[in-house]
Amino acid sequence: MTLEFTRTEHPHPVSENRRAEILAAPGFGNYFTDYMVSVDFDRERGWHRPRVTPYGPIALDPAAMVLHYAQEIFEGLKAYRQPDGSIAAFRPEANAARFNNSARRLAMPEIPEEDFLGSLRALLEADNEWVPAAGGEESLYLRPFMFASEASLGVRPSDTYLYSLIASPAGAYFKGGLKPVSVYLCTEYVRATPGGTGDAKFGGNYAASLLAQAQAAEKGCDQVVWLDALEHRYIEEMGGMNLFFVFGSGDDALLVTPELTGSLLPGITRDSLLTLAADAGYKTDERRISVDELRQGVENGDVTEVFACGTAAVITPVGRVQSDTHDYTVNDEKTGPVTQALRDTLTGLQRGTVEDKHGWMTTL
Ligand code: PLP
Ligand code: COI
Repeated sequence: MTLEFTRTEHPHPVSENRRAEILAAPGFGNYFTDYMVSVDFDRERGWHRPRVTPYGPIALDPAAMVLHYAQEIFEGLKAYRQPDGSIAAFRPEANAARFNNSARRLAMPEIPEEDFLGSLRALLEADNEWVPAAGGEESLYLRPFMFASEASLGVRPSDTYLYSLIASPAGAYFKGGLKPVSVYLCTEYVRATPGGTGDAKFGGNYAASLLAQAQAAEKGCDQVVWLDALEHRYIEEMGGMNLFFVFGSGDDALLVTPELTGSLLPGITRDSLLTLAADAGYKTDERRISVDELRQGVENGDVTEVFACGTAAVITPVGRVQSDTHDYTVNDEKTGPVTQALRDTLTGLQRGTVEDKHGWMTTL
């Protein structure tokens, strides 16, 4: 049975002027819209009480299991205003599938794809005005999440859950806008291990990354790069982005991205870029790449560009790589032509100005 969302009107929505001010320079994750979605789950009724209500605090029992054992998962996707004024999201079905993969790994209930998509539609209907105008860099970031709400200190899967969805207008993820970022190769800590939770979008993965991210920041870097847990040799991903390495240039360019080992997140942007790169005539490869191969490749000119990709970061060039033993720049800290071309295609597709050959945009 498909969930039918009810809506409680907001008594004091953000004024039109204030909203315009926010949408002009939203940054990332700083502002929230007027409404939110909530759906409850228990073992008897399954998913029930689907509702859109004014954005506001959630009351939780102090013994709610999420506060003790961190049973929480989330997703991230963006809604884009199209040239005809409609709103579309990029591959939301893929986010629904990944949400349910994460749910299975964390022993949580799955939510049917149609209800996941229904929740996006219900929120966008209420928050329509919060989707920025067509044609710019801005979009509305959607954050579905689910957590264990049962009051109990037993270490076992919760019997009750809350699914919720909030939205936040988004501009550039990094403060410098599209400027190439610097990264720190972390060997002291690991993010995820084989058999662990690295390929789930599980809140705990992000909690576990914070100390290393702070360490990277202390060393003057924007982001930490995670290496494999066993040898600390092979590059996995960044805190909230996957990575691509461009070998060679022009029509002969080869794009390499770390293979999905089970300990890195299968990014939807990563998957899409493998297809868009092939469409553009580049060769692609998913394989292991070591820190030594990267450094030597940059030094001898084989590796010409490095970029990060993800929903929040879109495509962000990496201009400098630091580790405890090395510090080098990539492509003179400039955005390379392959990075720029793929970025233009991806963002054009999302904004409805490039043909959607793969049927990736879903009108909401
Ligand atoms: N890796 C991590 C750890 C992430 O949090 C994200 C962001 O969602 C990504 C990669 C990129 O995934 P996607 O392209 O689906 O946003
Ligand atoms: C995203 O790109 O959607 C992410 O989740 C990355 C980060 C903000 C956690």
